[in-house]
Amino acid sequence: MTDRIIPVVDARAALRVPAGADLAADGRVADRLDRPLRDLRISVTDRCNFRCTYCMPKEVFDKSYRFLPHADLLSFEEIARLARLFIEHGVEKIRLTGGEPLLRKDIERLIEMLARLRTRDGGSLDLTLTTNGSILARKARSLAAAGLRRVTVSLDGLDDAVFRRMNDVDFPVGAVLEGIAAAADAGLAPVKINTVVKRGVNEHEIVPMARHFRGSGHIVRFIEFMDVGSSNGWRLDDVVPSREVVRRIDLEMPLEAIEPNYTGEVAERWRYRDGGGEVGVISSVTQAFCRACTRARLSTEGRLYLCLFATGGYDLRRMLREGASDGQISAAVGRIWQSRADRYSELRSAATADLRKIEMSYIGG
Ligand code: GTP
Ligand code: 5AD
Ligand code: SF4
Ligand code: SF4
Repeated sequence: MTDRIIPVVDARAALRVPAGADLAADGRVADRLDRPLRDLRISVTDRCNFRCTYCMPKEVFDKSYRFLPHADLLSFEEIARLARLFIEHGVEKIRLTGGEPLLRKDIERLIEMLARLRTRDGGSLDLTLTTNGSILARKARSLAAAGLRRVTVSLDGLDDAVFRRMNDVDFPVGAVLEGIAAAADAGLAPVKINTVVKRGVNEHEIVPMARHFRGSGHIVRFIEFMDVGSSNGWRLDDVVPSREVVRRIDLEMPLEAIEPNYTGEVAERWRYRDGGGEVGVISSVTQAFCRACTRARLSTEGRLYLCLFATGGYDLRRMLREGASDGQISAAVGRIWQSRADRYSELRSAATADLRKIEMSYIGG
């Protein structure tokens, strides 16, 4: 049941394929659906100290599960080099993910290296990270000092018993709440909070979560449970549609829709009419947002994936370790992006349901 049986394409093959269109003089690329490359999500470890039932179910990720050996991981130097080459193609936002990215040793050193990179326009990167918050309270200051701009914390409920059941390692909710407060204190703001909603499991937490964080300056986003990976036993019946989430909150705390912050923003934004801040909903099941998807994903071992639901990746590590030049790697990345036509969430159907897909814990959210 692992991603490692997913097909891998040697990225050098892209160099032998004629480019669909010439790269723009400034290096920016567009894919076959005319979507630019804007976001790079880098997974820095496939390990996590939680076993959320929808992501790393214990039955699959047990003692016998073989995580990647250290030698297979991209080094920080390799990650920073690839990041620089992706930026040449137009990347402006980098999100570190995992597994749990804060488990990667000396992650602050990687953040320092990435924070020094400049976008094509000479601006600073939107450098952020998605964490389960378990060790954020003691890491927030050093992350901010290293140059991290903001954080997103996954939190599926406020009720301690529900939270412990969802992370499945009996981790208390209080420690994550301390992590969120520490992040805000350290200036990693606005803190976003991602809540995956599963029917019958934590749907009763929607309104309490909204109520708790209203007026705090933090932004909660409720996410439809997705059929990502091949091990979470996804069923459409488990999905709570976003419009139902909005309706439930609006009944107690009236909401109005607001404009996205940027084109292609994944979350739909809603504001409390009384000025208490905002919440978001992410509807990849009921309202797919592939049209504007500008996200590339780099796995812990250096494979490039063009979609969260990809069934195959491109091996960039091999190019790195066999001495390819910056120009060669950059050309491969550009051509791979130009070949992209993925739009899984829009196509989601019985025909694709049985495909072996990468796990969320391997590729990040
Ligand atoms: P901001 O930069 O803060 O706007 O974050 P974001 O909108 O990129 O959201 P984030 O990275 O926190 O993603 C939130 C959730 O949206 C993820 O955990 C996934 O569940 C879902 N998601 C993010 N990107 C994609 C995507 O490309 N496809 C699909 N289907 N879901 C996605
Ligand atoms: N559906 C939706 N979101 C998911 N995440 C993990 N698995 C799923 C899923 N099946 C999200 C978590 C976290 C991020 C790492 O990915 O909420 O924010
Ligand atoms: Fe770990 Fe995040 Fe997956 Fe939960 S959702 S198991 S915290 S990677
Ligand atoms: Fe992008 Fe694939 Fe998600 Fe669609 S399903 S939004 S193409 S990552």
